[in-house]
Amino acid sequence: MISIIVPTYQEVENLAPLSEMIRSALAEENLSYEILVMDDNSQDGSIEKVAELFTRNHPIRLINRTENRGLSPAVIDGFSEANGDFVVVMDADLSHPATAVPTMIAQLRSGESDFVLGSRYVEGGSIDDSWTLWRYINSVIATVPALPLTRVKDPMSGFFAVRRADLPAPSDLSPIGYKIALEVMVKGNFDKVSEVPIHFVDRIHGESKLTLTEQLKYLRHLRRLYQYKFQTKAEFFQFAAVGSSGFIVDLAVYLLLQMMGISHTVARAISFWPAVSWNWALNRVITFSHREKTAKTTQWGAFVSSSLIGFAVNYGTYYTLTTFVPFFEEHMILALVVGVIMGMGFNFSISNLFIFRKLREEVQNETRQSSAKTK
Ligand code: GDD
Ligand code: MN
Repeated sequence: MISIIVPTYQEVENLAPLSEMIRSALAEENLSYEILVMDDNSQDGSIEKVAELFTRNHPIRLINRTENRGLSPAVIDGFSEANGDFVVVMDADLSHPATAVPTMIAQLRSGESDFVLGSRYVEGGSIDDSWTLWRYINSVIATVPALPLTRVKDPMSGFFAVRRADLPAPSDLSPIGYKIALEVMVKGNFDKVSEVPIHFVDRIHGESKLTLTEQLKYLRHLRRLYQYKFQTKAEFFQFAAVGSSGFIVDLAVYLLLQMMGISHTVARAISFWPAVSWNWALNRVITFSHREKTAKTTQWGAFVSSSLIGFAVNYGTYYTLTTFVPFFEEHMILALVVGVIMGMGFNFSISNLFIFRKLREEVQNETRQSSAKTK
């Protein structure tokens, strides 16, 4: 059996056409199914509508949700309600053609694929002519940062099918916002991911709930997924970015002090302080925002101490190069850069291991992922 999970909010007018569309697409292929309407307490007659459809022999059921509202949480709740061997997630507004479902299920059945996505951007797929240029640009811009996370052409799609047994545990899923397919794809570790072309039809009834707030949530969601997938690499990348911004602070102060007549070695030693405080603050709220919230003063102290040793590495490199290597005597800024890179490697390791301590969930998640990789 196939469980079709449909998140809804005020979609009463779409429920009957949706059920008909699904029936005609699946009945022809003799596929048995259930429709799970995961509704966020719409109060628009959806409950009555589903009851009526049920009496007209549609295998449909509505789950009225009153807490933790949102598209993704609704879908995740649907995963626990599902009874089928296969799970399909689709929108209620008839944007996702049910005629693609038999192909999606066939690919899962034959083992050709473990995760099938309904895609607008593979050959044969398309979007509605009524799509505004604005919506199109929006969709393309949103797609780019998701590309390192998956290899699919349409990571923004909300239409997908998986074997229920392959779903990640609900406790592993923590999507914010709209991108439940992306969340399942990244966390589920699927070997074979495929895309079937769909023609995305614009809704006729009701309106889109994709607001600007949802799109901002997407940025936070992306950051979490990068963190999940790339772990230390993602942290190092952010640490380096923060470090580069700190380097600008450092450099500005270093040059300014020299303009005020202070010697370059002394200027170098002073400019460290504003830069290190800047780095600590940004690493706390960006790079390691998911780590233990240690008291600020203690943590700043630890960060400064580690950075001082890092600075010894950094300064030692700078001093050695500018004193003994003729090339660097001419190019002191380059010596400074090399020193910063040496110091940063040291600082990152200490920060990552000791200063911004991991919470238990992160450790568990890492263990889980490394065992998933070896299996
Ligand atoms: N339960 C619940 N709670 N359902 C919701 C909520 C909510 O807060 N917000 C939206 N939904 C339901 C809608 O009722 C609809 O069935 C489905 O989720 C998609 O919502 P739309 O408002 O129609 O979204 P869209 O058309 O802008 O976005 C769709 O296309 C995008 C690609 O262009 C979705 O499929 C997105 O996931 C997709 O990225
Ligand atoms: Mn829609």
